[in-house]
Amino acid sequence: MLSIEEIKVYIKENLIEERYAHSLGVAETAKRLAILNGISEEKAEIAGLAHDVAKNLSKARMKEMMEENNIMLSQVEEKNPNLWHSIIAPIEAKEKLGIEDEEILDAIRWHTTGKEDMSILTKIIYISDMIEPSRNFDSIEDIRKFTLEDLDKGVYYGLTHSIEFLLIKNLLIDENSMRARNYFLFDSKFKAQSKK
Ligand SMILES: [Fe+2]
Ligand SMILES: [Fe+2]
Repeated sequence: MLSIEEIKVYIKENLIEERYAHSLGVAETAKRLAILNGISEEKAEIAGLAHDVAKNLSKARMKEMMEENNIMLSQVEEKNPNLWHSIIAPIEAKEKLGIEDEEILDAIRWHTTGKEDMSILTKIIYISDMIEPSRNFDSIEDIRKFTLEDLDKGVYYGLTHSIEFLLIKNLLIDENSMRARNYFLFDSKFKAQSKK
């Protein structure tokens, strides 16, 4: 695997400037959340840096990679190219950055939609992508606050925000995001704790 410094160089050279700055922000936020939640800071930093590694590939190249790797797309994934860079992120991270750690690969795979029953690292990358310092939207301060209080609460409201946004814009909602959110609500203890 490349060192953290080498990963930064690769990301800087292969993403547009703004996306590079975003990736550094995700890595920093993820590191902080890793400390708060008792998991490896290093893994969180690597996953944060690498999560958008495939972001600059052309749609045609992403399509080709998904075909080469026999990845079956759901109907929603097929129709939503914004999801493709996360679907192929693990392949690109393995090939270009030498990342083999399955936990890191899982976290970068699900950073856009989330999924049900996420690991702590996967939750951290999902929410760090949404709340890193350069992001801005109406309810972001609430979501930042909830995330620092309780990671699950932050991720739950992050998913809720993202689903609300898609609903209002009349856009497709990926099934994995719905499952991810429902998973929290199935746990009655969580529901009781998470009231605003
Ligand atoms: Fe992304
Ligand atoms: Fe991102």
